[in-house]
Amino acid sequence: MKYQTYHIESFGCQMNLSDSERLARQLESLGCVQCDNIVCADIIVINTCCVRESAENRIFGHIGALKQLKEKRPDLLIVIAGCLAQKDQQQIFKKASHVNIVLGTQNIDRLAEIIQDNAKNKRVVQSDAYADDGLNPNAETARHSGFAAWIPVMYGCDNYCSYCIVPYVRGRERSRPPEIVIDEIRSFVAQGGLEVTLLGQNVNSYGKSLANDWNFPRLLQQVNNIDGIERVRFMTSHPKDFSDELIEVMASGKNICEHLHLPVQSGSDDILHRMNRNYSTVNYRQHVKKLRSSIAGVSITTDIIVGFPGETDEMFEQTLAFMAEINFDSAFTFIYSKRSGTPAAKLTQQVSPELKKLRLQRLMNLQNEISLQSNKAWIGREVEVLTDGPSKSDPNTYSGRTRQNRIVLWSALPSDKPGNIRKVRINSAQTFLLKGSAVSERN
Ligand code: SAH
Ligand code: SF4
Ligand code: F3S
Repeated sequence: MKYQTYHIESFGCQMNLSDSERLARQLESLGCVQCDNIVCADIIVINTCCVRESAENRIFGHIGALKQLKEKRPDLLIVIAGCLAQKDQQQIFKKASHVNIVLGTQNIDRLAEIIQDNAKNKRVVQSDAYADDGLNPNAETARHSGFAAWIPVMYGCDNYCSYCIVPYVRGRERSRPPEIVIDEIRSFVAQGGLEVTLLGQNVNSYGKSLANDWNFPRLLQQVNNIDGIERVRFMTSHPKDFSDELIEVMASGKNICEHLHLPVQSGSDDILHRMNRNYSTVNYRQHVKKLRSSIAGVSITTDIIVGFPGETDEMFEQTLAFMAEINFDSAFTFIYSKRSGTPAAKLTQQVSPELKKLRLQRLMNLQNEISLQSNKAWIGREVEVLTDGPSKSDPNTYSGRTRQNRIVLWSALPSDKPGNIRKVRINSAQTFLLKGSAVSERN
């Protein structure tokens, strides 16, 4: 069967989005073109996440719904890739007889090879445990945004936070060689790229697996120095490996955006200890203080989990108080989800679902208030935005992001187009975005 079109759906984090680009590149090398409508595609890839049970359930539902499509078109090739595929390969095969290929995180660069070798379209599971040679550091990606790119700088995670499944499905931490990362970014910029986001589960431990004396601040500095690059972002930073050197590089690198995503997870030192996070609220507070005194207007965002086993009312109140004290610009908040195989899953004193929901609601209400206040502080100021494109709901409204990663909407001018950098004067603020009027193009 000659496949002509493909459709990829990506769940989970930016690492999965980046993997999806690598999968896309492979399908394009087989002569397929991307197709927005899932119903018309010859190959459907679902790139999955298993970080929380809710994500898993949604994906299982989604995979189940593909059965009808396969019944109508038996030649359809269905590929389940990513973290859930790594974790639950046999279960996916058993539950979903319409799935053709299950491709674990360690084997994403093998999709084209598997499709070519498998002319008879047998069912294949490819998820050798941590066969990291399968990850080709030179793997090319197909980017569908011309000006912004995800650039993985490392794979896997060695931190073993006690609640987290990621180290078990992404394997050991491996850093990509700096020359390869830099070359990839140089060629992206040469083709019109403006913004890169360096990705890793904990970018602050970059270089530990490399022979030379590499670390993340050095890499970041080099990326900042690439000719033609406009904006450099990175995520995620683990507070335990956060360094003054990183703050210095962020402060001096003019292309490095004034934004740091620094997940705190909890405001209780007892919980942080049992989460195996290896820092305290005192350390975290110090990082924030130094960062704010070195980088004017820096935006600090975070992740917080409520309902970790044994979380008392008092510990939860500490998290609320810490959230208010740090004054995060925004926060992703999650209900603790028990992941079997992780140490926290064995803890007794699991918090009831009702209480977890109540706590999440209180946390979100507080953060929404803080985010609104933090956005209001931008009213009356001119900000530089990199234009993403027309907003989904109204083609006459354009959307872009500030260097601090805030979303800005404005009434489009004829010259507006994706990838433009322009100034916008902020007129009003909401919890999740700013609105303004276009002032001038920067160039
Ligand atoms: N490596 C990154 C993030 C990985 S997952 C980091 O360390 O920050 C993204 C977020 O999902 C985590 O920061 C955490 O807040 C949340 N998360 C991970 N496991 C979870 C679980 N079992 N239940 C609820 N949230 C979880
Ligand atoms: Fe999970 Fe912790 Fe690794 Fe992040 S650092 S991926 S939360 S184990
Ligand atoms: Fe999910 Fe895997 Fe990312 S579990 S959060 S897609 S690393």
